[in-house]
Order: sequence, then C-alpha cells, then structure tokens
Amino acid sequence: MKAKIGILGSGVVAQVLGSGFLNHGYEVMMGTRDVSKLAGWQKTEGGKAGSFAEAASFGDIIVLAVKGTMGSSALGLAGAANLAGKTVIDTTNPIADLPPVNGVLQYFSRLDGSQMEQLQAEFPEGRFVKAFNSVGNAFMINPDFDGIKPSMFICGNDADAKQQVTAILDDFGWETEDMGAAEAARAIEPLCMLWCIPGFLRNEWMHAFKLLKK
Ligand SMILES: NC(=O)c1ccc[n+]([C@@H]2O[C@H](COP(=O)([O-])OP(=O)(O)OC[C@H]3O[C@@H](n4cnc5c(N)ncnc54)[C@H](OP(=O)(O)O)[C@@H]3O)[C@@H](O)[C@H]2O)c1
Repeated sequence: MKAKIGILGSGVVAQVLGSGFLNHGYEVMMGTRDVSKLAGWQKTEGGKAGSFAEAASFGDIIVLAVKGTMGSSALGLAGAANLAGKTVIDTTNPIADLPPVNGVLQYFSRLDGSQMEQLQAEFPEGRFVKAFNSVGNAFMINPDFDGIKPSMFICGNDADAKQQVTAILDDFGWETEDMGAAEAARAIEPLCMLWCIPGFLRNEWMHAFKLLKK
C-alpha cells in the first residue's frame, strides 16, 4: 500500500502535488491555517483538508509547500512531534519579499547556507529531502517533454528518505539526481532563480532542467 501524504500548504504547489499524489493512488490530507482556501480543490479532487497539525499527523510522508519565509512557522504549527521519523519533502525556495532584479529573484539565504539546512537543524525530528523546488508547478506531475524525462535534483541527510522521494519521483515521471547531503540545497535552491529568469525576462515558463551524462 502507498504511503499517506500530509501536505502543508494551500497554494498552487500544494494543490498540484495534492492532486498528483491522489491520481497516483496515494491518500492525501492538505494542511492550512484556513480550510476554506481548499474548498474548491476539495470539491474537484475529493481530498481531505485540515489544520497543519492534522495534515502532519495524518501523513507518513510530509510535503512542505508554503511561502519560503514561512517554512519554519508552518512546521512549528504542524508540530515537531508530528514530524518524528518522517520524510519531509521540502519544495520551498527562500525567496525574499523583494522584487526580482533584471529577472533575478532575491533570496534571504546565503550561498554558504540554505533554507533546508536551517529547517533540518530546527526540526531534527524530520528527515528533510529537497525536491520539486527547481521546476514550475505546471510540470511537477508527469512532465511531458516529448519523451525526455527531465531531472529532479534532490538532497538530504537520510538515505532511506531520499529513496522514498525517488520512488515518488519515479511515479511522477522524473529522473532523480541525488546531489548528496543537505548542504547541496545551497546549490539546488538557487536553481529556482535560474529557472525563473526566462519567465521574468521573456515570459517563457515552459522548461525544465536536464542533466546530460555520458
Ligand atoms: N509556484 C511554483 O510554481 C513553485 C515551483 C517550485 C517551488 N515553489 C515553492 O513552493 C512553495 C509554495 O509556493 P506556492 O506558490 O504554492 O504558494 P505561496 O503563495 O508561496 O505560499 C502559500 C502558502 O504559504 C502559507 N503561509 C503564508 N503565510 C504563512 C504564515 N504566516 N504561517 C504559516 N504559513 C503561511 C499559506 O498557508 P495558509 O494555507 O495557512 O494560508 C499557504 O499555504 C514556495 O516556497 C515556492 O517558492 C513554487
């Protein structure tokens, strides 16, 4: 039987991943501070919704899909005890509340640290894995690039957690590229900046990364 998924968030990423997990046979509960934000999604998808804590308690695997600046506060509301021993898929990007500069997003993190390392240190109960942050939500599930599977870069300190996330990415049609321990998030998080540049400069949003190998 597939794992139960608790998704923290009510925005477009949470909803797209929620629908994707449901369509791939997982049980899903979405978490939010305001369940009314998910009424439309629940109506079309038939999934469950509750508080951050209820979703985190429901999930065998947790997906963090909130505004980057709110990662810590959302996990705090979810409750550290509800993360204990669980894989936490971190989709967030540390985007500051500032406008892009010539198409380049501004981050509140630095290159010698990352949002995910900070969250992992603050919530050692969870087994964090960075994933889904380097592509637009339109391509997160079953990305179609004329038969070419794009690359999803992941990292985290726990091998079993990364194995679980790789199995999910296999289900969702991705080629997983494991970049190692949590520190690799220092490189994976800024991929979102790169991904967004063609969008902000030329309104081009229909792309994904591929690691070519010999
Ligand atoms: N949009 C994309 O295509 C894309 C692609 C890759 C990665 N990402 C990353 O995915 C994450 C989610 O993005 P999004 O566009 O779906 O949504 P978003 O607008 O960045 O975030 C919405 C979520 O943030 C939560 N939030 C806001 N203020 C909060 C607070 N004070 N305390 C706790 N939670 C709070 C909201 O919780 P409530 O439900 O309680 O209101 C809501 O669930 C972001 O970190 C983003 O960088 C986005």
